[in-house]
Amino acid sequence: MNNRRIVSGMRPTGKLHLGHFHGVLANWLQMQKEYECFFFAADWHSLTTEYADTSGIRESIRDMVLDWIAFGIDPEKSTIFCQSSVHQHAELNLILSMITPVSWLERNPTYKEMQDNLAAKDLSTFGFLGYPVLMAADIILYRATKVPVGHDQLPHLEITREITRRFNYLYGEVFPEPEALLTETPKVLGLDGRKMSKSYGNAIFLSEAADETRKKVMSMVTDTQRVRRADPGDPDKCVAYSLNHQYLTEAQKSEILVACPAASIGCVDCKKIQAQALVDAMEPFRCRRNELISSPSMVDDILADGARKAAISAAETMLHVRDALKV
Ligand code: TRP
Ligand code: SF4
Repeated sequence: MNNRRIVSGMRPTGKLHLGHFHGVLANWLQMQKEYECFFFAADWHSLTTEYADTSGIRESIRDMVLDWIAFGIDPEKSTIFCQSSVHQHAELNLILSMITPVSWLERNPTYKEMQDNLAAKDLSTFGFLGYPVLMAADIILYRATKVPVGHDQLPHLEITREITRRFNYLYGEVFPEPEALLTETPKVLGLDGRKMSKSYGNAIFLSEAADETRKKVMSMVTDTQRVRRADPGDPDKCVAYSLNHQYLTEAQKSEILVACPAASIGCVDCKKIQAQALVDAMEPFRCRRNELISSPSMVDDILADGARKAAISAAETMLHVRDALKV
């Protein structure tokens, strides 16, 4: 059995932003070098909350997968596909649902939390309660041993492990118990100083035009104590600097770290430097993305190819499952 196989899914939320760039995508890129990876768009998981209006899901998948590939997730190395194109996810989900006690799902902390956060939506559905069961199916369908997850997904992964143990206990050792590969997700601040998030409207998108990014950087909050040009500032308290310092050269950083507290540089000039550095850092990504867009069937072909590869592995697992289950 392949013990270096990783599975990770992302709900299609459309265009990705710098928060994804420094978090999940950076991790995936690293994983791709070390493991055999299955990366998929979790569109059925999106349905658990978006069932009443599904109009945006297809386009979101496309935008997201374009970003993955432009960023360097490589269809030659990794299997890239869409969950709903591999029907075995649903088949295994059904079987796992038979052995999963409802109490495990009800006590899942994210269940109540999400219901509260998304109070405008009716999430008292069977499917939403079963979110972690589908996630367990996603993972063990490929007999993955490692799952890169952030802290927020740990409770879900714990349920995956419990379901796996229960299956193996009832029907024999079919599945390895997957382990969380806890990934560092640095907190990336958005334009207003809150965590960068599409829903806060404070995000810088990977695919946006350079001028758009420039405008956004110029609108970023700085050190709020620095009211006038003559006031000394503190880069440590500056939202713009906290995001953008990572694109600056050492020389630029040293200069700002001296000039800001001495008030010898103004925030407008400083942010111009920051914006340029960010735009330059994004340039190769933007180019690659535009190239991909210019051949419209490219993403479709990659996803179709990935689904074919994933399905081979999935079908093999389902043979073992049926064998063990005797159904
Ligand atoms: N629940 C994950 C999230 O919201 C997405 C997901 C679905 C996933 N299936 C998965 C992640 C399987 C890892 C493995 O981020
Ligand atoms: Fe931030 Fe630069 Fe202004 Fe200092 S000078 S507060 S680092 S934008």
